[in-house]
Order: sequence, then structure tokens, then C-alpha cells
Amino acid sequence: MGKRVLRPGGRELTRRMLEQLDIQPRDAVVEFAPGLGVTARMTLSRNPASYTAIERDEAAAAQVRSYLTGPNQRCHLGNAERTGLDDQSATVVYGEAMLTMQGAEQKRKIVAEAFRLLKPGGRYGIHELGFTPDDLPRDIQEDISREMSRNIHVGARPLALREWRELLTGAGFQIQAEAVVPMHLLEPRRLIRDEGWLSALRFVFNVLRRPQARKRVLSMRRMFRKHYRHLTAVSFVAVRP
Ligand SMILES: C[S@@+](CC[C@H](N)C(=O)[O-])C[C@H]1O[C@@H](n2cnc3c(N)ncnc32)[C@H](O)[C@@H]1O
Repeated sequence: MGKRVLRPGGRELTRRMLEQLDIQPRDAVVEFAPGLGVTARMTLSRNPASYTAIERDEAAAAQVRSYLTGPNQRCHLGNAERTGLDDQSATVVYGEAMLTMQGAEQKRKIVAEAFRLLKPGGRYGIHELGFTPDDLPRDIQEDISREMSRNIHVGARPLALREWRELLTGAGFQIQAEAVVPMHLLEPRRLIRDEGWLSALRFVFNVLRRPQARKRVLSMRRMFRKHYRHLTAVSFVAVRP
């Protein structure tokens, strides 16, 4: 439909995650699941020593490749669970809106892969969807996950903020920074801020033109509004000691 920024905290939380990651020209950066490459372009503008993306969708990978220049910028078709990259070959790893959609075992494997790729002192950034408060009863969490998965047609399994922290520390990371912003994915203000006026208009136009899409987008927004109090966008930056 023309919506390009699909992460829960929008560009704002991406910006905060990147600020905390503090990518420098000496950094070797790995991005998991770059999607349409919105963050990839922000990272590339910081001129890291190298940039390697791992994306499992052919069309998305082709789009990311169109932004790359020179031999030190690559996008491989592959799975973040097993990237095939060398141990301790990166100083920064990050991935947005990609852990929430995985099951518990895959989440654990992807975080372990980030740890394996990083040199000691390396930073790992994530930007995902969280349940709040931490003690939100399990059955409410499961209801929301089920409703979301049905609604967006992909598995959605957010974790309570405490569980995200435990996922990272369980893999050996030390948490350095944490930021939360409300979940406003399909609200007009966020839409304009994330996509810009012109693209936001194009998105609205595309959706209005297609009754089926319109029904889906409105039902997604209804769902996010209904669970607003219990869902939050969160980013963490953690360090491999
Ligand atoms: C919701 S999008 C997030 C894209 C981007 N990070 C963003 O925030 O806009 C999900 C993307 O993650 C990719 N993806 C999901 N799981 C992956 C995995 N295990 N390894 C590599 N790519 C994955 C999908 O192909 C898709 O392009």
C-alpha cells in the first residue's frame, strides 16, 4: 500500500536507537531484516567501515541493494538465525520489527547469533513491540497476540519489557539503554511523521481505493487502539561484554 516504515515506534524510536548505537566510520555494521531499507539508508549516511544486511525476502533484499555502493556494503539473502558470517566480525548489530514476529526459540537463536557476530564491546540494538505493565496477566498477553496475528496475518508475539531484558541478558548481553514510545503505527500524526506528507497521502489514497485493504487497515488500527494501554514500542541497546 506504500507504507514503508513498519516498525512499532516509527522513525522516532529508530532515531533514538541509532543515537544510542552511535555508529562511527570505524564500525562494522550488520543489520538483520532491513525490509525496505529505511534504517539502512540512515546507517549508510554515517559512513560505517562496512555494512552487511541479512534479509530473507528476495524483493526486499533487491531494494536494499539499490542503496549500496562499493565492496564493503552488502545485502545477503539469508536468515538472521544463521547468517554464515564470521564470529566476532561486527562492532554493531541491529534489527527492527523482526523479533516480535518470531517464536520463542527463533527469538533466542537470533539474539545468540547477534552475540556470536559481535566483538567484545560491540553493541546490539533492537526495536520491537512490548507488553506493559510487566505483570500483565499471561491470558491477556495471549489474547492480544492471537488477535494481532489474525489481524496482520503474521505471527505476532510481543514480550513484556522485563522479558525482552531477560532475552538479552540471557544471551550474555549487558543492557546499556532502553527507550519506549507509544504504539501509534497507523495514526495520522505518526503516518505523516514517518512517511512525509506526500507518501502519507499516497498511502491513504491507495487504501481508500481498495475496499478490501481499507477494511484491513481500519481493523488493524482498531486493534491497536483497543490494546493501546497494554502495548508499547520499545528499543534496547545492549553490549557484549
Ligand atoms: C516487519 S518487516 C521489518 C523491516 C524493517 N526492519 C523495518 O523496521 O521496517 C519484516 C522484515 O523482516 C524480514 N525477516 C523476518 N524474519 C527474518 C529472519 N529471520 N531473517 C532475515 N530476515 C527476516 C522479512 O523478510 C521482512 O522484510
